[in-house]
Amino acid sequence: MAKADNILSLIKAHYNNEPERFITVALQIAAHEAKLGHTLVANEIKTTIDKAKANRHKTKTFAPDLQGLVLESEPAVRLSDMIASDDIKSKIKRIISEFVQRDKLRKHDLENRRKVLLSGPPGTGKTLTASIIANELHLPLYTILMDKMVTKFMGETSAKLRQVFDLIQQNQGVYLFDEFDAIGGERSRDNDVGEMRRVLNSFLQFIERDKSDSLIIAVTNNKALLDQALFRRFDDVILYHLPTLEEKEELLRNRLAPFASKVKFKDLLPNINGLSHAEISLACTDAIKETILHENKQMDNDLILAAIKDRNAAYYK
Ligand SMILES: Nc1ncnc2c1ncn2[C@@H]1O[C@H](COP(=O)(O)OP(=O)(O)O)[C@@H](O)[C@H]1O
Ligand SMILES: [Mg+2]
Repeated sequence: MAKADNILSLIKAHYNNEPERFITVALQIAAHEAKLGHTLVANEIKTTIDKAKANRHKTKTFAPDLQGLVLESEPAVRLSDMIASDDIKSKIKRIISEFVQRDKLRKHDLENRRKVLLSGPPGTGKTLTASIIANELHLPLYTILMDKMVTKFMGETSAKLRQVFDLIQQNQGVYLFDEFDAIGGERSRDNDVGEMRRVLNSFLQFIERDKSDSLIIAVTNNKALLDQALFRRFDDVILYHLPTLEEKEELLRNRLAPFASKVKFKDLLPNINGLSHAEISLACTDAIKETILHENKQMDNDLILAAIKDRNAAYYK
């Protein structure tokens, strides 16, 4: 067994957030065990540390200065998971297909659609679209946390943005600037109203100059931002909307599939006006949970409506 003082050092290193110290102590324990002839345990400690180091290394070298500003993920959603108009779906398919066949386009001096602007009300599938594109193209998704990028000094913010665009250049992926119009929000509350425009302009310039092989997806809820100057910088713009009657029914049928024998969809539809795809999805999940956890409850219109009411009550409080 490891000595008590070793374990104490390990605990201290953990709580003091000293990863290097943590590893040193862990290796000391491994050495101690090896000396006692406990080679299996000693080796297991060493390989565990090596594996953890390799992973840490990966995220570190990927962008040392952008830690906490860019999140990497590998989403597992497919286009078939999305309920949307044919127009939206075909635009997403076109982005995917042009990317896959970009070499063909280049031979004719043409570029695939790489810079895309998504706009529309919350909960209608914008972030979902970025995840679908990344997954369908087997690329990692990088979400840029724009609100965290804005610092007190304009120069610093621009420097960070430049680093993000360097990363986009060096490291192929899908880069999501989700709700990028939130940038500078803090500052404008401090009465520095020009800040948001300045950051936004420098963001748009970076987008315009980008010649990478990555995909850039910018999302905004802010209709006022959708002026011509903005449209011009993007290869494609997709406008999202609250679900139509048909989309609502498709979404409900899709989400409730194995539980829906008693649901009267046509009666339900007029009662869920104004709800987004996300709100409907969540209400379905809530209702499904109820039927799983309470034997006396079965899936029907009342249960779904109660779930929706419950969500709305919290939302509009
Ligand atoms: N069009 C859609 N089709 C199917 N599910 C959707 C759709 N839009 C939203 N959802 C569901 O709601 C969740 C949140 O949606 P999201 O894409 O984050 O909305 P937005 O980014 O437009 O605010 C998604 O993960 C998905 O489960
Ligand atoms: Mg979103």
